[in-house]
Parts: sequence; structure tokens; C-alpha cells
Amino acid sequence: MVSKAPQLLAMRGIHKYFPGVHALKGIDLDLHKGEVLALMGENGAGKSTLIKILGGAHQPTEGEVRIDDQPIEINSPQISQAAGIGIIYQEFNLIPHLTVRENIFLGKAKSRSGFVKKSEEKRIAQELLKKIGIDINPNAICKDLSTAEQQIVEIVKALSSDVRILVMDEPSATLTPQEVEGLFKIIRDLQSHGIGIIYISHRLDEIFDIANRVMVMRDGEYIGTKPMQEISRQEMIEMMVGRKVENEFPKHYHEKGKVRLEVKNLNAKNVNDVSFKVHAGEVLGLTGLVGAGRTETVRLIFGADRRESGTIRLDDVELNIKKPSDAIGYGICLLTEDRKGQGLVLMHSVRENFGLPNLDTFSKTGFLKHKSEKSSFSEYIESMKIKIPNQEQLAKNLSGGNQQKVVLAKWLQRNCDVIIIDEPTRGIDVGAKYEIYMLINVLAKQGKAIIMISSELPEVIGMSDRILVMRSGQISAEVTDVKNVTQEQLLEHAIH
Ligand SMILES: Nc1ncnc2c1ncn2[C@@H]1O[C@H](COP(=O)(O)OP(=O)(O)OP(=O)(O)O)[C@@H](O)[C@H]1O
Ligand SMILES: [Mg+2]
Repeated sequence: MVSKAPQLLAMRGIHKYFPGVHALKGIDLDLHKGEVLALMGENGAGKSTLIKILGGAHQPTEGEVRIDDQPIEINSPQISQAAGIGIIYQEFNLIPHLTVRENIFLGKAKSRSGFVKKSEEKRIAQELLKKIGIDINPNAICKDLSTAEQQIVEIVKALSSDVRILVMDEPSATLTPQEVEGLFKIIRDLQSHGIGIIYISHRLDEIFDIANRVMVMRDGEYIGTKPMQEISRQEMIEMMVGRKVENEFPKHYHEKGKVRLEVKNLNAKNVNDVSFKVHAGEVLGLTGLVGAGRTETVRLIFGADRRESGTIRLDDVELNIKKPSDAIGYGICLLTEDRKGQGLVLMHSVRENFGLPNLDTFSKTGFLKHKSEKSSFSEYIESMKIKIPNQEQLAKNLSGGNQQKVVLAKWLQRNCDVIIIDEPTRGIDVGAKYEIYMLINVLAKQGKAIIMISSELPEVIGMSDRILVMRSGQISAEVTDVKNVTQEQLLEHAIH
């Protein structure tokens, strides 16, 4: 049915060269009216590069783009917009100190009378936000919003112009299951109005839920396109990684040791008397909806925010944590969810980024040991399959998922006793997820205490030894029988 709909967009034989990288090697793509085309592939496969060509941010080295069967040269973002293409980029493009409303309507066409009233803009913004089912004040300043909220503003911004082709590059990466449901309602609504949608995500469940067809890329090459009814989860993974993948969650179970981290009666804004323990060798899953207080809780432990009361003990010794450097000094590491914002210096090389927060590890004698830094990073590049032409590549030129892997590697090679990871595999492809899970297994075996915050319930269930569910700043449930808990049960604790 869908394939008989008129063709909106055709890309033919697209090549893109960057210095030292042949990022796209002859890609074809077709999009029809009213269909959702999922674009899948491992980190660095070329997905974002392909859609940046649609957005006028990159020009193809070779190849043709046709819209309504007319050739078009998309030389600028303005041409892209005028052709009815709306793009939600993987990296946020919001201007931090403008309001939500101002960001949404920035650069948009004005009404016939020459201007759109602020109140009217506010009403439209509110309506779109309500459709997604989230309560964001249009007058809020964007930099004060959480990552998830900023993502939603990006989505609303793209939807507020007149688009016929909508491209979403990992829009759901920061959203909770409820928010994703809201997003899908909107996508289905747009579909019924004949809008063609290209949807990029690393979450397979979502693709089966929303897409009509799936197109797979690997290493810059076109691998194939299939209707969703004709492909299984396993087949899709194999097309992406080019080999067989047996087990998505390779959890190793160890004897758990003595209590390492113990927090008691933590209190702050949005954290309500939170107490728990983490044992040596234990992976404690921390889940709940966005805003439930998970990130806030670990920020208190890390000294990133001030706690009003509560104690933190490591190996039975009370710690005096007032700022992150105190926590790091005690061997507590936090890998934040906003890895790009908080973890990478984009204009520095990947090698420098890897070395940056770890200078103490490498320079016991007082100077940076260039060679040891390079070889230890090489091991991570290999085990985590980080895709870079060489270590001197600038961090900004890495694909989104590969940037995350660099930040993870940077922290993981520090010798921490307590490792807190916020959304460890967000935006990371299936193959690399596996490698990160294997690293978590290794860290647990070494007797570290691990707290893993995750909104992906299969991951929480698949990789935790014990699960805490948070709701409204409190722990609403503790699950010890992880092997027999269902996603529905966890959601139940998260909501009611
Ligand atoms: N401006 C650039 N300069 C040099 N290389 C680049 C540039 N942009 C992208 N690349 C390289 O092109 C390849 C494809 O990257 P791209 O961002 O398209 O991957 P992706 O499929 O979107 O991956 P992810 O799932 O991690 O977001 C990668 O090897 C990346 O390092
Ligand atoms: Mg990408």
C-alpha cells in the first residue's frame, strides 16, 4: 500500500568524502508519501551524514537528489527548508539563552500582516507541547531545561513549520517510554496527512512499532531495504553488524561482596530521603521516568549539586563530598547522560580528549606520557570498536555514537571504585552495546560498585543484579528477583 503512494524523495548514488574518510559510498534512498522509513546502521555507518545532505549542511561529492521527481541541489539549509524538508538533528541546535517559544519560531515565516503575535506563538507552542504530552512552559529559557525537554523543543520546532519530509535523527534517545508514545502519536498523525518521515534510532522495538520499511547502511554502504513485515529482529541486527549476534544482554553473575557505597537519607530539591547500598561486584539498576530524581540523586553523590542532608559512606568510611573533585578523589566516577556537553572538548583531537581528565593517571612523574596514553586508548578503540581514521581526528568529526564511546573509554580507564553511568548505551548501536555490557561485566568482576541509570527497561532487566525504581524523588520499589521481573511491573512502580 505504502509503496504505491507517490514518491516524495529519491536519493541516487550519493557519495561523500571527508579528509581520510569515504563516509557514503553510493547510497540510494526512496521515500513515499505517508510512510515512515527507518534508517538503521551501526555508529559511523553514515546515517547522519546522509541526512545532513538533505538538510543542506553537507553537499554530496557525487550523486543526485530528486524531490517530486525534480532534481534539486540543496546548497543551503534555506533551500532545504523551502523544499519542505524538516530535520531534527542528533545534536541540539537550540540557542541556550532564548526561550522555548523564541527557539521554536526562530527564522520562521511571518504572518500576512508581517508579524506573528507573541501570544499566538505561545498558543501554537503550547498546543504542540501538549500533543506530545509534556508540560514545558513556552517562556522557559532553554538552557534551564533538561536534556529530554530540550529534545522535545527540537521536535516541536521542526513540526511548527510546513514540512512534507520530516527527518528525525535519534529523536527518542533521551525520551522515556511515555514520551516516545506521545511522539509516535504525532508521527502517525503526520503520516495520515501524507508527510513522509525518515526515522533514525538504535532502539529496535521502536522501529518495529512505527516504521513501514527499514533501510540498512553499513560502513557507508547501502545494504538493503525491507518492508517491516518481511524482516525479523534478528535479521535486522545481522544486516547492521554483518555477522550473527547471539545474545543482546551478555550478563555475567558474580558473588556479590561486602557493601562498598552506602547513602543514607539523601535530601535535596527533588530528592526525598533516598537511602541505598551498593555491594562490591554489584550492578544496581536505577530506573524511573524522566524527572523521577535518578540523575539528581547521583549528582548529590558526586558532589555536582549540594545536598541538604544525608551521608555518603565508602567501604564504611564517611566521605566529605562537597564538589565533584572530592568525589573523584575518593574514587567515585560519574558518566553523565549529556556526554557530549559535559564530557568532550569538540575542537580537540580524540587522543587529547581521552587524556584530558586522566592526566593524573598518566603523569605520575609529572609529565604526560604520550606513548602510554596512546597505547591504552588503542585498547579501548579496539574493544569498543570506536570508528576513527586515526587518534588525531577532531572529536567534533566523530559520529554521535562514537563520541559517546570516547567519553565512556575516558572514564572507564580511570581506576574508580564506584562507577555511576547515566544511560550507558543511549545512542550506541547494537554491536557496541554488547561491548559496553562486556566492559560492565569486567568492572563488576573487579569488585567495583556500579550504579547504572537507564530508561531502557530491557537493558535494566538484562544487565542489573538488583533494581531500584524511583518516582517523585523517592525510591518506590526495590527488585531483587531481577530474572523474573517484567517491564510492565517496573513501569507500574515508576508511574503509580
Ligand atoms: N565533518 C566530518 N569530517 C570528517 N569525518 C566525518 C565528518 N562527519 C562525519 N564524519 C565521519 O563519517 C562517518 C559517518 O558518520 P555519521 O555521523 O554519518 O554516522 P552515523 O551513522 O550517524 O553514526 P551514529 O549512529 O553514531 O550517529 C564516520 O566515520 C564519521 O567519523
Ligand atoms: Mg548519527
